[in-house]
Amino acid sequence: MSGKLRLGVNIDHVATIRNARGGDHPDPVRAAQIVAAVGGDGITAHLREDRRHIRDDDLKRIQDATDLPLNLEMAATEEMLAIALRHQPHAACIVPEKREERTTEGGLDAAGLHNTLAPIVWKLRDNGIRVSLFIEASERQLDAALRLGVPVVEFHTGEYSHAHLDGDSEKLATELKRIADMAALAAKNGIEPHAGHGLTYENVQPIAAIPQLAELNIGHYLVGEAVFVGLEAAVRRMRDLMDEAR
Ligand code: PXP
Repeated sequence: MSGKLRLGVNIDHVATIRNARGGDHPDPVRAAQIVAAVGGDGITAHLREDRRHIRDDDLKRIQDATDLPLNLEMAATEEMLAIALRHQPHAACIVPEKREERTTEGGLDAAGLHNTLAPIVWKLRDNGIRVSLFIEASERQLDAALRLGVPVVEFHTGEYSHAHLDGDSEKLATELKRIADMAALAAKNGIEPHAGHGLTYENVQPIAAIPQLAELNIGHYLVGEAVFVGLEAAVRRMRDLMDEAR
């Protein structure tokens, strides 16, 4: 049976707009408060090495402003580990990060990076932070996550969303099946599966219908929609579509 699917709202791009002018408007903290008021289940924020959107001081301000759990997306570096330990977010999602990329373009190579990831995962876990790995939906990466002992994985839905954008129905079906199969396998092995990246009103429902998925993290599209209808209405509509699909 599928339970309620949580919606984590990634507010990075509110900060992207703020940073375009270097001032303090629009404030991602206000976005976090709106998400809380409208019944979002969590706030997701990615503190990048280059601080292109969320900045260090935003983290504390977000934590102080809402009771929603904060999911900190972070690269597997000593710098980010120290920041996570200082801020004690509810969850930390380890993501791959390349300076030159426009967004997180693929999943983390949890299999190839086992020795780098292990001490970071353990330190986060020993400090009571729920660790997640942002991986491709593949058996190889899921095996690696199991070996690392993480409680959560987030499947990268980028290929799925690209197939949707390209109108490639064959690829879309393949990608959807891959995510559904890996979500089932993760749950069977005691790992809570999440998903995110590139999700929109148009493509969210088949993903939301995967019964084992416990959480979706959605950002860019919601902030884009907020320009036209407001963040509150955008989050509400996404929530309704997710509930309808369940
Ligand atoms: N989940 C993770 C781990 C991410 O890094 C991101 C942002 O790249 C998202 C979800 C949200 O993706 P989007 O902004 O495309 O909705």
